[in-house]
Amino acid sequence: MSMRSLWVTPMLLALLSLTTAPAALHAQPREEATADNLFTGTLDVRMGQRVFQQQCGRCHGNDGSGGEGGPDLTNGFRSASTDAGLFKIVREGIPNTQMVGISRRSTDQSTWMVVSYLNSLNDTTDVDLPGNATNGQQLFAGKGNCGSCHMVNGDGGRRGPDLSQVGNRRKPDELASDLRTPDEEVDPRWWTLRVTQVDGSLVEGLRMNEDTFSMRLMDDNENLWSFSKSDVRSFDRVKSSTMPSVDGALTDAEVDDLVAYLFSLRREES
Ligand code: HEC
Ligand code: HEC
Repeated sequence: MSMRSLWVTPMLLALLSLTTAPAALHAQPREEATADNLFTGTLDVRMGQRVFQQQCGRCHGNDGSGGEGGPDLTNGFRSASTDAGLFKIVREGIPNTQMVGISRRSTDQSTWMVVSYLNSLNDTTDVDLPGNATNGQQLFAGKGNCGSCHMVNGDGGRRGPDLSQVGNRRKPDELASDLRTPDEEVDPRWWTLRVTQVDGSLVEGLRMNEDTFSMRLMDDNENLWSFSKSDVRSFDRVKSSTMPSVDGALTDAEVDDLVAYLFSLRREES
């Protein structure tokens, strides 16, 4: 009990200092709010987009491509060259023009999120990745043989996770380590079961589910097998990934291409 509270206290303190950081940013006087943008994640961009559609879309178009009385914002900005400059324009508007800027009630945080959204409109690829997504798509279906295990938009195998939206849940550097070191973090859903039947024959495949008395697996041909644990000679669980590492099989440039392709697989923005 006391061990536990000793441990919890520093955790709570760490959490508290984390959660107070953004609040401190709000409290900054406006002139000092030219710090770096801390709100650049995918979620920040999406929040910024929401604010934009509510407050800016009527002049600049809902997708920022220009509209009634407001210029296109997808081809760079004439009046700002830095994030801090953009922040100032979004916050204060442009004097003596129709450009009014964000609501006075909006926080600095949501202003930064709008800045992130504006930047995203001007990125062709969201982030600068060295690889080429089109080449990556060809590698995925061809030389890389990834489609034999992975589904993308309804096409492919079931022996690995569906990757249709993998760009939403994995960052580029995480994707690269998924490809190079598949054994690093393997969800139990993707463990292998190796079952020796009473006649001595071996059945092996992905561990679909397992309880005290029974287990189910899917073999390489996507056949499902059920076993009662008491009816087999032995079984064991292999906790490494069935996915082969790309190291040695593909060049660094090809891995970059695959990462660019995978990162482009995302939910449609509505
Ligand atoms: C009432 C119409 C209107 C609204 C609402 C509006 N704008 Fe503007 N905006 C303009 C006009 C007009 C300009 C061009 C001003 C000029 O002549 O320089 C402009 C310019 C800009 C620019 C500079 C473009 C460049 O090339 O430098 C940015 C960035 C911008 N608006 C963002 C926003 C954002 C973000 C919002 C919402 C918070 C917003 N605007 C709301 C009309 C509007
Ligand atoms: C033999 C089947 C198989 C092949 C071939 C295969 N994978 Fe996998 N892959 C898996 C399995 C199983 C997992 C889940 C276990 C793990 O994390 O390694 C996985 C995981 C992944 C992940 C992480 C997904 C997530 O949601 O976290 C990515 C990305 C991935 N694979 C991409 C690829 C690419 C690209 C190729 C081709 C170069 C490929 N895979 C080839 C079976 C395979």
